[in-house]
Amino acid sequence: MASLGFNLGFSVSGVKIQRHRQFSVNGRAPVISCSSSSSSSSSSSQASPQGISTPPEIELEFFGPKPESDGSYPRDKAKAVSGEKLLRSIMQDNKIDLYATYGKVMNCGGGGSCGTCIVEILDGRELLNDRTDTENKYLKKKPESWRLACQTIVGNKENSGKVVVQRIPQWKK
Ligand code: FES
Repeated sequence: MASLGFNLGFSVSGVKIQRHRQFSVNGRAPVISCSSSSSSSSSSSQASPQGISTPPEIELEFFGPKPESDGSYPRDKAKAVSGEKLLRSIMQDNKIDLYATYGKVMNCGGGGSCGTCIVEILDGRELLNDRTDTENKYLKKKPESWRLACQTIVGNKENSGKVVVQRIPQWKK
């Protein structure tokens, strides 16, 4: 019996589905078979269907400091390759407000000498670098969860996961 075959590959919620479909050309029913494999979201890299590995990513979610008129807090989302960028750069690249009023006009441009790029990490602190000496200087009397975005490296090139950030925590009500 002559037949034609092709493979379909896709993933649903981290489960990779491989489907092989074979069509008969002499009028008989097609043969369909499926197999699945799961992938971990915390793996250091993920292989594409072509076998090329992609670097792990960190997902970020940002909450604004003040509620909107409907009572909900503004939310922004971004993604970054693990260990590749500072939080300040990710926010700038995605046009997410970082500075309060004074910092908007008087910040040091990421040099670690103004202390105005303050954020609070609500979740995912373990995915970031430790506080630097500069942060310990500017945030000495602030909560441990506060960071300077220009000193915060998002990811370590091997981890992946989600970081939740409170913007301008000094304005939080
Ligand atoms: S931008 Fe000045 S300390 Fe971060």
